[in-house]
Amino acid sequence: MRASLFLFAPLVGAAVLNHRDNIDQCPGYKAVNVNEQGLKFTADLTLNGDPCNAYGDDLQDLKLLVEYQDDDRLHVMIYDADEDVYQVPGSVVPRPSPNGSHKKGQPSLRFDYQPDPFSFRVLRDTEDGDEQVLFDTTDTNIIFESQYLNLRTWLPTDPNLYGLGEHTDSLRLPTTNYTRTLWSRDAYGVPSNTNLYGNHPVYFDHRGDAGTHGVFFLNSNGMDIKIDKTDDGRQFLEYNTLGGVFDFYFMAGPTPKDVAKQYSEVVGLPAMQAYWTFGFHNCRYGYQDVYDVAEAVYNYTHAHIPLETMWTDIDYMDARRVFTLDPERFPLEKMRELVNYLHRHHQHYIVMVDPAVSASDNGAFNRGKEADVFLHRPDSPDSIFEGAVWPGVTVYPDWFNPDTTQSWWNDEFKRFFNEHDGVNIDGLWIDMNEAANFCPYPCSNPEQYVKDNDLPPAPPSVRQPPRTIPGFPDDFQPKKNGKQRRSTGRKVGLSNRNLISPPYEIANAAGSLSNKTINTDIIHAGDGYAEYDTHNLYGTMMSSASREAMLLRQPAVRPLVITRSTFAGAGSHVGHWLGDNLSQWDKYRVSIAEMLAFASIFQIPMVGSDVCGFGGNTTEELCARWATLGAFYPFYRNHNELGSIGQEFYRWPVVADAARKIIDIRYRLLDYLYTAFHRQTQTGEPFLQPLFYLYPNDANTFSNEGQFFYGDSLLISPVLDQGSTSVDAYLPSDTFYDWTTGARITGKGKSIKLSNIALTDIPMHIRAGSVLPLRSKSAMTTTELRTRGFELVIAPNEDNFASGELYLDDGESLNPTGTSLIHFTFSENKLHLRGDFGYQGNVVVETITLLGQKNAGSRRDVGVDFDEKRQALSKAVNVQLSGPAVIEL
Ligand code: NOJ
Repeated sequence: MRASLFLFAPLVGAAVLNHRDNIDQCPGYKAVNVNEQGLKFTADLTLNGDPCNAYGDDLQDLKLLVEYQDDDRLHVMIYDADEDVYQVPGSVVPRPSPNGSHKKGQPSLRFDYQPDPFSFRVLRDTEDGDEQVLFDTTDTNIIFESQYLNLRTWLPTDPNLYGLGEHTDSLRLPTTNYTRTLWSRDAYGVPSNTNLYGNHPVYFDHRGDAGTHGVFFLNSNGMDIKIDKTDDGRQFLEYNTLGGVFDFYFMAGPTPKDVAKQYSEVVGLPAMQAYWTFGFHNCRYGYQDVYDVAEAVYNYTHAHIPLETMWTDIDYMDARRVFTLDPERFPLEKMRELVNYLHRHHQHYIVMVDPAVSASDNGAFNRGKEADVFLHRPDSPDSIFEGAVWPGVTVYPDWFNPDTTQSWWNDEFKRFFNEHDGVNIDGLWIDMNEAANFCPYPCSNPEQYVKDNDLPPAPPSVRQPPRTIPGFPDDFQPKKNGKQRRSTGRKVGLSNRNLISPPYEIANAAGSLSNKTINTDIIHAGDGYAEYDTHNLYGTMMSSASREAMLLRQPAVRPLVITRSTFAGAGSHVGHWLGDNLSQWDKYRVSIAEMLAFASIFQIPMVGSDVCGFGGNTTEELCARWATLGAFYPFYRNHNELGSIGQEFYRWPVVADAARKIIDIRYRLLDYLYTAFHRQTQTGEPFLQPLFYLYPNDANTFSNEGQFFYGDSLLISPVLDQGSTSVDAYLPSDTFYDWTTGARITGKGKSIKLSNIALTDIPMHIRAGSVLPLRSKSAMTTTELRTRGFELVIAPNEDNFASGELYLDDGESLNPTGTSLIHFTFSENKLHLRGDFGYQGNVVVETITLLGQKNAGSRRDVGVDFDEKRQALSKAVNVQLSGPAVIEL
C-alpha cells in the first residue's frame, strides 16, 4: 500500500513536476481490430504500456470512429470503449448526420494512421495531385485520462490560424507561447489573453495558395489550447482538456468561405433576424426611472437621430429581481405607456433578463422552487445552491431539468411579458449567463457579497422641478410627488473525479473552476450531467430556452435574443454582444477582430460591441468614431455603464452629426445588409469578412484586422487611432470606387494613406463588379424605410460587368411566404433583373446609378444625367420589383 501511495504522489502534486515531463512518459495507444467499411472506419485503441496517470487515470480501452461524412467533412472520434465518459449532449449541440452528400464521390480529405503507437493524419489533395498534411499527431502520444485529454498536431511554422474564441486577442492568432483557455467567465473589461464569456473550439487554418481548412473540436470541458513551438522549433497546436472525448470535425475548404459554409453544416445555420433589429439601438445601465428612459427616446427624436429600439437594463426591476418591476421608478402603467408610445411610433423595446433568480419571496422564485427547477447543492441535494448576483442571494435554473425548467421559464415570460397586461417587449437581452456569481468559491455565505454599490441608487423623493418630456402624452409626464442528433447524451461522466480541483489546472483567469460561478461539482437534473462538464453550455442553453419562450409569446415572428455567453452553434438561436468592453481606443479597435470572428467563423453574425464603450467615460472623439464603426456591426447598439457619463449620440454635436450621417448610410444600405445576412442564414456564407476571405492568395491580407468587408462589395477602413484623421488602408489588387467621391481607384496590393477623415466620416470603398441595392432615401425608422424605393448603384469592373442581389420579405415572419430573391447583372450597358419575385410589397426601383463614367455621351438624350463630381450617370426609372426586367443605361 505504501508503495502505491508513493507511486501516486506525483499525481496529486502534479504541478510539482514539469508539465512536459509529466505527459511525455505517457504510453499512448495501439490500434487493433481495424475495420474499414467504405466511408466508415473503426478500430479499438488499447493503452500501449503502463499508465502514466499524469492528471487522472489513463483509460485502458478506447474506440476510434472515422466517418467521411460528406465530400468535404471528415469526422474523427476517439472515445472510451465503455462509453461512460461525458459527451456534449446532442440536445444542446445537434450533430450533423453522417449521410451527407457525396457529390464528387471522392472525399477531399483523407484519414491516415499509424497503428503502433497510434497516431493519425488528415490530408487533402492539392491541385497538382500531391497531398498536403493538414493535421498530424505523429511522434506524440494521445493521452486519454479521466480528467485530462491531450492531443498535439504539428503545423507549418507560423501558421495563419483564426478562431478559438471568445477572445480579444489578434484575429490571426499568435503562434508562440500562446494559450487559449476556454471556460465561460464574467469578464469585465474584456482583457486580452484571458478566457471570456463564450466558447468556440474551432479554428480555420489558412495556407494562402494551398487553401484553407477548419478543425472543430466538439468538447465542452474546460481546456487550454496551446499554440507554440518546441525547443527545436517545431510548430504545434495542442489540446489540454479536462474531460469529454476527442470529437473532431475536419472541414476541407479549400477557400475560407467554403470552410465557413462547411462549419455552418456542422453547428447549424444562424437564425434570420427581423428587419427592424438592424436599426440603431440605445441602452444604458443606470437610467434612473421610466421617465429617464422616455427622455432619452425624446432626445433622440429631437436630435433627429433615428432610434429604432430603446433598451432597459436591470434598473427596471424591483430590487433587481428578474420578472419584477420597480413599482416607483418603473411602474407597470408607465412602462406600458412607454412601450405603447414606442410602438405607435414604430419603435421597439427590449429589456434584460438574468438567469439568477432572487432567493427572496417573489413569484418567479416561489413558482420555480415549487416546480423544482433550480440547481441543488452537491453536498446536500435537498437544498438549493445559492450564489450572489445583483438582487443579492440568488438561485440558478437548471436548464437540463427536462421540461420543468422550460415550462416554468415559458410561464414566467407569459406572465411578465404579456402583451395585454405586462411589459410587451419586442426582443430580449440575456446576461450574466456564464453563469456569473459575485460570491467566490466555496460561497458559503452569499449574503456577504451583496455590495452596497451594486444596489440601485435611492430614488429622489422629489424631482425639482419635475421634468416634462416633450412628445409624450400628458398623462405620461412625471407627477410632482411621484417617486420615482447524434447524441450519446446519457453520459454522466466517470465517477471518482475531482470535480472541483482537477489535477490539471487550466489557465482560468478567475482562478479555480468554480470561482465566481456555479460550483462545478453540482450535478444537473435529468441525465445527471456535472457542471464540471457542462459549464460552458450554460449560456447557450439559456439562449435556446429563451428563444423558445419568446416564440411562444409570438409564434410567427423571428425572436431577437441577444446573449452574453455562447457555445458553438448558438447562432442558430441568438445574437451576441461582446460584453463589458471599456471606453478605450484599444477596445474600439479590437471590436473589429471580435466581430469578424463571431460573424465569419463562429456563425453568430448578429454581433456587435457596446458602441462608445461600456466601462469608464467615453470622449467625444471616441464616441464619434465608434458611432461610425458601429454602423457596420450587424448589431448596432450604444450601451453604457452605471456611473459613467451619458453617451447617447445626441450629447455632443459632432457625435450627433456623425450618427445622423452614418445612420443615413446604414439605412440606405439596410437591404444590402439584410440580403447578405439572409444568404448567410441559408448557406452559411459569411456576410462580414476579413480581407483574406476575398483575397485568399494575398499574404498582405492575412493579418489585417483593421479593415473588413461588409458584404462582398464594401470595404470599410475606419480611422483606428486617437487624435488621428488618417488611416493606412490596404487596397488589394482590384478596382474600387470611393463611396463619397465615386473616384475609381486601382488597388495595387499596397496600403494607401487616406487623410482628412473628419470625425463624422468613415472611409468606404465599393468593390468593382458590384450592384448595390440602396434605398433611395433614409428614414427615422425601419418601418418608414421599407416604404422607400430603391436606387441601384452599379460599380462596373474592368470588363464593364457588375452583379448583385436583393432579398425581400415582410421583414419579420419566421417562415415568410412571399419572398423575392432578385439577381442583378449589368453588362453591355443593360441591367438585367432576374430571379424570384414572390414578395408582394410595393417596391420600385427609382434610380439607376452607374459609377466610373467620364461623360453622358449620347445617353444624355434618353434621360440620363451626368454627375461630374461623382463621375456617375444616373437615370430616373420606375420599375416595379415584381418580375424580370431589363433597364438600359
Ligand atoms: C453586465 C452586462 O455585461 C452589462 O451590459 C450590464 O449593463 C450589466 N451586467 C448590468 O446588468
